[in-house]
Formats: sequence, structure tokens, C-alpha cells
Amino acid sequence: MTSDELKQLYIDFFREKGHAVIQGSSLIPENDSTILYTPAGMQPLVPFLLGEKHPAGKRLVDVQKCVRTGDIDEVGDSTHLTFFEMLGNWSLGDYFKREAIEWSYEFLTSGAWLGFGVDQLHVTVFKGDDQIPPDEEAAAIWEETGIPRDRIYFMGRKDNWWGPTGNTGPCGPDTEIFIDTGRAPCCPECRPGCGCGKYFEIWNDVFMQYRRTEDGRYVPLQKKNVDTGMGVERTIAMMNGSDTVFDIHEFQPLFGFLKKFAGIGSQPDNETTRSLRVISDHIRTATHILGDDQGVPPSNLDRGYVLRRLIRLAIRHGRKLGIDEPFTQRLAEVVIEAEASAHDELARNRRFILDELSAEESRFEKTLQAGLREFEKLLPNLQKNPAKTIPGRIAFRLYDTYGFPVEFTAEMAAEHGMTVDMNGYSKAFEKHRELSRQGSENKFKGGLADNSEMVTKLHTATHLLHQALRDVLGEHVEQKGSNITEKRLRFDFSHPAAMTADEKTAVENKVNDMIASDLPVNYVEMELEEALEKGAIGLFRSRYGEKVKVYTIGDYSIEICGGPHVARTGELGKFRIVKEMSSSGGVRRIRAVLE
Ligand code: ALA
Repeated sequence: MTSDELKQLYIDFFREKGHAVIQGSSLIPENDSTILYTPAGMQPLVPFLLGEKHPAGKRLVDVQKCVRTGDIDEVGDSTHLTFFEMLGNWSLGDYFKREAIEWSYEFLTSGAWLGFGVDQLHVTVFKGDDQIPPDEEAAAIWEETGIPRDRIYFMGRKDNWWGPTGNTGPCGPDTEIFIDTGRAPCCPECRPGCGCGKYFEIWNDVFMQYRRTEDGRYVPLQKKNVDTGMGVERTIAMMNGSDTVFDIHEFQPLFGFLKKFAGIGSQPDNETTRSLRVISDHIRTATHILGDDQGVPPSNLDRGYVLRRLIRLAIRHGRKLGIDEPFTQRLAEVVIEAEASAHDELARNRRFILDELSAEESRFEKTLQAGLREFEKLLPNLQKNPAKTIPGRIAFRLYDTYGFPVEFTAEMAAEHGMTVDMNGYSKAFEKHRELSRQGSENKFKGGLADNSEMVTKLHTATHLLHQALRDVLGEHVEQKGSNITEKRLRFDFSHPAAMTADEKTAVENKVNDMIASDLPVNYVEMELEEALEKGAIGLFRSRYGEKVKVYTIGDYSIEICGGPHVARTGELGKFRIVKEMSSSGGVRRIRAVLE
């Protein structure tokens, strides 16, 4: 089975169950600064999961491209990828546990659909804790549907809870579905979630039934939602009787290209296989990030930094395979060739993808040279150490700052009769990894909760700013990006030159006038064409299906947007531009606050 076939089956199945098909969104989250890349299908739907009305209805289905880099160091094993696609069906206050579970079961086991053997299925449900009772309801439905009790496992928060932990917002227990690969158990306690690879998780149904309050209580939600995620690559692997996500169609031309390029035989050893997987995964992800219509170039900050790391890690693994000439651009061409039919944005943004990869590869080459010089500078001091070892933290710094693989450092050390304290290196590495994992998890979990009052206000202020910029600078101003935190808004827009002090003041005054006028904020749903005819602006995509939501602020602003917004502009406070600067060629960036 190919990815395209699976996606089509899934869409067809849920369409039959009354779901509206919506377009997946960009990999770059809109109006959400709490996460760097879209990590799950639910992310673009957060406003609707929080109660905003979705124009396409209460039952939705889509395919969402996702990037997750929290487990980047695991890539190369059989289950982890940094880019993947997630199939999702949603109930926005419509059906709940029974339908979600019965449909998952039907789609997986019916011969008309995926046709897995019922005895291959194992499921987990939430076992409860001191605040939330066990999810006996889900377990009972599974049992009635056809999964015997001994294949239903009750597990804790780590495995079966979804939503903001430290924050307020909707959340709830989930039920995860695993396929038994038929491999021998790793130990007598081997069961879903143990990680040995016998049980392969392919689908997660989240039951958003609580709201976590400011004081940490869980209140049952009036309108309960279902949020699901089925991994395309993982499900394909299981359908094809393979035990690794790297056996999917999309990867084969990449492996083919790399093996030929690096002169690798047909039976590579484990280490080589790992490098082939890492390179293919990372360049595939980089190609999708650069190829997104909202794509970002590599940089030292946030999103751009994640991208830079992916590309550089791939190049390092290339070196391990003996590749010492530029290759990422050529590999990206193979990705585009293989995937542009399913992702036409890759073809559209082909030039950008290839140019950015090639530029990054030559920058990295220079960095490596700089790392080499740094090493040589450190050497005389290092050699004074009678133990002739290079401290782990120095090896880690070379890795972290100069992208120097520790094996390179070890090789260079050996040339000078020294060794690297690998233990110390691993410790420094682990510490760093733990910190970045915490960082990304916090960010991720924040995704659901970050619809605080301030964020909503800044969102409405963004609409006013957008229109004010068009009034002051001209109609050529178009939104290029937007990012809001609790503290400030950030707005990128097309404009060829820096704004003058007068222009900035004029924009501020305009926005503050509109706030002082206490204009009502409303929305109506209409066809995209109609909205455009009415002159609605905004970064819209056809993802809302046929209909879009159009927000108006008095007669001043009309913009296509998912919401949410405040009810009246009078709530906003005073608007102030903190900074206006360049973002990239022809694009300016404004940071502003409400005080
Ligand atoms: N949001 C759930 C997940 O990502 C479905 O696993």
C-alpha cells in the first residue's frame, strides 16, 4: 500500500461517516508562537477545539503534514521520523467515545478497509489517578466492539493523557491503538508502550472531556471533542508487513540515490543503515520545511535553527558515509520528484528549496573549517593534561557550536596521541538533550492552552495593524506572517523600505483611534469567492473547505481568519509599536504590544 492509497481510504471512510474533508495546513503554525512547527493535526484546529464554530461543520477529516524534532536523536531506529503525515478525524462537540472507537475498529479490521486481523490489535486506555477516574467507559466500548480484556491495558498520564499539563485548557484521556508485529516479546512484561518494537503504535484517539482550571481542577466540558491522529508512515509499514517506517515508498529513491552516490553495497551494516536513514529523514524534512508556502530559511533562531540542525546533521552523516562533496541539493531533487504529486507546494517552491540547501551546505563547510581552527587553538592547552584526554564538555562544545561530530574530534585527538572523555561527552549531551526536550514539550503542550485573553486581544490588534499599514503605506502591504505570544504581537508584511518615524506614529494613531471607537468585532461565514469580492484580506488558505469565516471590525477591517477575537476593540488597551525592522528581502517586521 502506498501513502496516497492509505490517505484516500481514510478520507473515503470518514466521508462516509459524515465528515467534511478539509485541507491540511501549513507546517508553520499561524498565530501561534508556542510551537515552532505543526506537530499534530489538531494544532491548526485549536480555536475550533476551544469552541469556535468551524465553517465546514462538526465532523472533520484531513491529512496534516507534521514536524516533530523532540526525538530527533532517535531517528534511525525503526519508528521515528521528524517529518510525517497524520490522518485525523474530529468531532467538534458532536460524537464521542463510542463512535470514535467503533470507527477506528471498523477502519482497521474490516476487509473493505485496512483488514488487519482483530487479534493483531492491542489498545491502551487511561488508568486514572487521584484526580481523574480510570477510563472504564473507553475500555468497555473496546470490549463490546471486539477487543478482549487481556488486550486492553490501563496506563498512566505519560501514555494515555493528552493536553496541557501545567496549563489551563481542554484535555482528556486517550486510547492508543497498537499492532502486534508478531515478533517475540522482549521480556515477560513486554506490552504496548514498552518500546522494544514488538507493538507498533499507529493511532491515537483523544477524548477531550475536561477543562483544566487555573487552580488545577478538572471540570467536565459541556461540549466534548474527539481529536485523533493516525500515522501514515507507521500504518503503511504495518500494512506492508514491514517493521520499519523507512520501508515506505517515499524513502526508496532516497536510499537508492545515496547508495549510488556513496558507493554503498546492497547489504549495508547497521551503522551505515542508520546514517542512510538519518540523512534521508532529515533532508526530506528540510525539503518540506523549505517547500512549504510559508517556508523559512535556515538561521540561528527558533524555526530556522531547527532546520539548520537537520541539514547539518544530514551532512555530517554524509561525511560518515564518505561523501565529501555537496549532495543535499541533489537529494532534495529526489524528494521533490517522489513527493510533488502529493505536495504540489514542493514543485512551486523548488528553486527556494534547492538554493537554500546549497547555501547552507557551503556555510556549514566554512563552519567546519572554523571548528578545525578552534580545535588547533585549544590543542596546546589540552595537551598539558597529563591524562591526555579531552574533557567531554569541550568535545560537546565543538559539537554544539561548530557542528563537529564527536567522532571527528576523537579522530583529531588520536592524531595527537589523545582521547576524548566519551563519558563526559555523553553526560553533556544528555543534559542538553533533556533541556531541549523539556523546551519542546513545554512548547508543544502550550499549544492548546495559549488562547489566553492577551493572545486574543493581540490577535484582534493584529487585524487593526494590518489595515492601518495598508492605509498608511499603501495597498501593496500584504501579511507575510504573524506570531503572537502573551507579551507581544509580531507581524511580517511586504513593504520595500524601512518605515519612517512619521509612518510608525501614523499607524499607531490609526490603531489607537479604532480602539477608542470601541468598534464591534463580528464574523460571518461565506464562500471564499464572496469574501474576496467583499475585499477581505488575510493569509487565507482554502483549508476551511468551501466556506471561510470573515471577521469584521466595525467598517474598518475585513479579514479572513479562524478567530478567536475580542467582542469590541475598546477592550484592547493602548497599542504601541516596539520595533520595526527588516525580516527578509522586501519584508518588514513589526513587534507591538498592548498596554
Ligand atoms: N493529538 C493527538 C496526537 O497527536 C491525536 O497524538
